[in-house]
Amino acid sequence: MAPRPRALPGALLLHLGLRAALALHAHGDAGGPPGLEGPGDPFGPLRGALRAARASLEAQGRPVADLRAALRRAAGSAGGGPRGAAEDEGISEGGGVPEKNGRYEGASTLLQEEVEMLSDSQREMLRGIQAGSIGKNRVEIVLSHYNESVGWSKMYDAIITPYCKGYRDYHGGYPWTPRNCRQLPNVGREAHTFLHHIIENYDKLADWTVFTQAQAPTVGWSGAAGDRENGHVYPGVTFHDYVLGGGPFSGSGGDSQGARFVFNGHWKPPRQGLEFETVRMCFAGNYYVDMREQGKPKRLNTTCPRLKSKESQLWLGGLPVNQALLAYIDTLGAGSERNLFYSQGARFALSRERIRQRPRGFYEKLLGTLDSEVYPVAGIFAELLWYYIPGRPDKHRQPCVDHAQACPEGYEQLGSSSDHAEDGILQRLNTGSMAECAAACGANRLCESFEYHAHRPKLCVLQPSNNSAEGAQTGFWAGAVACRRTGARRS
Ligand SMILES: *[C@@H]1O[C@H](CO)[C@@H](O)[C@H](O)[C@H]1NC(C)=O
Ligand SMILES: *[C@@H]1O[C@H](CO)[C@@H](O)[C@H](O)[C@H]1NC(C)=O
Ligand SMILES: *[C@@H]1O[C@H](CO)[C@@H](O)[C@H](O)[C@H]1NC(C)=O
Repeated sequence: MAPRPRALPGALLLHLGLRAALALHAHGDAGGPPGLEGPGDPFGPLRGALRAARASLEAQGRPVADLRAALRRAAGSAGGGPRGAAEDEGISEGGGVPEKNGRYEGASTLLQEEVEMLSDSQREMLRGIQAGSIGKNRVEIVLSHYNESVGWSKMYDAIITPYCKGYRDYHGGYPWTPRNCRQLPNVGREAHTFLHHIIENYDKLADWTVFTQAQAPTVGWSGAAGDRENGHVYPGVTFHDYVLGGGPFSGSGGDSQGARFVFNGHWKPPRQGLEFETVRMCFAGNYYVDMREQGKPKRLNTTCPRLKSKESQLWLGGLPVNQALLAYIDTLGAGSERNLFYSQGARFALSRERIRQRPRGFYEKLLGTLDSEVYPVAGIFAELLWYYIPGRPDKHRQPCVDHAQACPEGYEQLGSSSDHAEDGILQRLNTGSMAECAAACGANRLCESFEYHAHRPKLCVLQPSNNSAEGAQTGFWAGAVACRRTGARRS
């Protein structure tokens, strides 16, 4: 959904100025009612940091909506990926922005067409939903609506709980608007809607709740300005999978974790205290392949499609915004993660158990960061971090296991697959194999680790000791593995 921008409420912020806002941040939450938070409650500093970020963006004349556009551009620019490297997911390579700015006219029949992708057990559950024997207590779809045509979702009418943020009297123009919509104030975009549902239904949640924006769940994202027709579903996945389970979510793919997400992106938080630091992001390939144009749809059999893109950098607007993002990550208890997993398009499903691993009060406080503006800064952060919002903070932090190639004898893997240290490399070589790369490192007394990329072209990078620590892996090199000499000094 894409609520219209409206005048900002926080007129106070307009005259605060960056310096004052930063001072406010440094002293924690000076603005909240006294005594509301105990010591160590991260929401106090978070609220201060969010205000400082908002004030800084104001001072720059940068609307928060730009952050979302920047995030989409980052995904769009990364979408290319090296051609021909897609065979491991069994899907032919797409890559790049599609030529036609693809409005998919068939959205209303999309889900009917995609029934052919389903397994027998998925079809059986679908029949149960349509026959009414499986109701909202088992699976409920929370649909966040602004003005989109939601004809696509008719098939699941009986289990949809729609929330509407558009004008109540907005008639005509759409094939179908949700019936029995619960009207919400137009604040906080879909993150506000989803949290609102969790809070209101905390004691009577369905076994599974599917959270979705109202955009038809078509494949891909073109990244082109103004294109709202691509619905962010990863190729080989269908919206049915989120509702019915199975498919890519079979077993440990999400069904047994109580969380159905497809992680099409990874990112690294900005570094502490660096004004111009960006969020480094890296995406899976194939995001633009439309299965309907490729004959019989192939199925994705993982929730972690392999990273294929070149690194893209998301600049959020400077130090105060970065600090607010870091405060948000801390608040979710994910401050020690170096790689974070991203699921584009704010569409996922959660089990009741998973949601209830956090107390209701946690969601209420998070809602408090979203409920006073159409485009709050925290809305972008929620979009980046949905996977980390529900669930015990100490659990399930790494939803994707490494598929990295094993390091050779005498070396051990450094960091995660696709980790890369970018500045101050010793040497870049074209080598035929990982063994040759390891030998080149062994022959260079300054080399403490190497990074090796096995796909076209085979490349090898030798790294000095200061780049051979986990903390130095600030960038992405999709498909490469970093190997450190066993027993090397850990810096
Ligand atoms: C829905 O709202 C968006 C954002 O205001 C607008 O760009 C779009 O044209 C609207 N769509 C329709 C069908 O009215
Ligand atoms: C997933 O599909 C790909 C391509 O079809 C195949 O190579 C791979 O082995 C499959 N993985 C699993 C876990 O089934
Ligand atoms: C390691 O040293 C090189 C050269 O002095 C420098 O460019 C690079 O940024 C350093 N790496 C880290 C992680 O500090």
